[in-house]
Amino acid sequence: MATMKVRKAVFPAAGMGTRFLPATKVTPKEMLTLVDKPLIQYGVEEAVAAGCEEIILVTSRGKSIMEDHFDKSAELEASLEAKGKTALLEIARAVSKLAKINSTRQAEALGLGHAVLQAKSLVGNEPFAVILPDDIVDAQVPCMKQMVEAFNETQASILGSEIVEGDAISAYGCLACTPDPKNPKLLAVSDMVEKPKPGTQPSQNAIIGRYILTPRIFDMLETITPGAGGELQLTDGIKALMQYEKVYGFTYEGKRHDAGDKLGFLKATVEFALKNEQLGDKFRAWLKEFPL
Ligand code: G1P
Repeated sequence: MATMKVRKAVFPAAGMGTRFLPATKVTPKEMLTLVDKPLIQYGVEEAVAAGCEEIILVTSRGKSIMEDHFDKSAELEASLEAKGKTALLEIARAVSKLAKINSTRQAEALGLGHAVLQAKSLVGNEPFAVILPDDIVDAQVPCMKQMVEAFNETQASILGSEIVEGDAISAYGCLACTPDPKNPKLLAVSDMVEKPKPGTQPSQNAIIGRYILTPRIFDMLETITPGAGGELQLTDGIKALMQYEKVYGFTYEGKRHDAGDKLGFLKATVEFALKNEQLGDKFRAWLKEFPL
């Protein structure tokens, strides 16, 4: 069989972002600025770094500024060009040249599994990446690139995973798994459960918002019934997929920030600001003087 390549990345981005109200009353949470870029751009850049050529945004009503953000802005470019602001012109241009952006809509918020299913016809019959834009992964080798490299070996679905402490696991999908003897970063998955009740988790291995899935997942997502929280869960679809195909967890190298949470967003902001080429030194100096 010819080797399958990951060329497309799906971004579920249809949620109402209620945790960030009032900031997200009109502005999609994926457009909130982390230092100098909207959250979604970090994920798109990660997908591009992993070799994806096509981005599929799963959005909902009122969120089309995400598409505008990645589109060419002829007016802005002409204005910057006329003023000779070349550096800014390059920044504006680079965003629209990142990748081919497609989008589809999730008409009703029926769950993450349902959101991914909306991308079925745009993905077609090939493996694809899923990136949850709330999960920002700071890594030397972009997280999805690490996963694509693993996928190129396994040719099987792979879920980004990390160990979380104690009852925190109840906020995640959880994997029953054992490290693969040949590559301990790969975890052979035997079962999975979405948001296990405290004390019932099969392990502390959480699924993070990075997936590579084979296209058979769509058949599974068409048959699942509402699970945790009454929603159509991606985890349940992947569990069904395990009846037919191998599924791996993947211990990525890097640090994840939960930017879908106000405190997590603030922490990510401080860490990214400290690392920022233009701002880092000045921000560090200011922080050191800050009376805590
Ligand atoms: C979703 C998934 C969950 C996963 C998490 C990672 O949950 O359903 O399996 O562990 O993303 O961020 P959510 O955060 O949307 O509740």
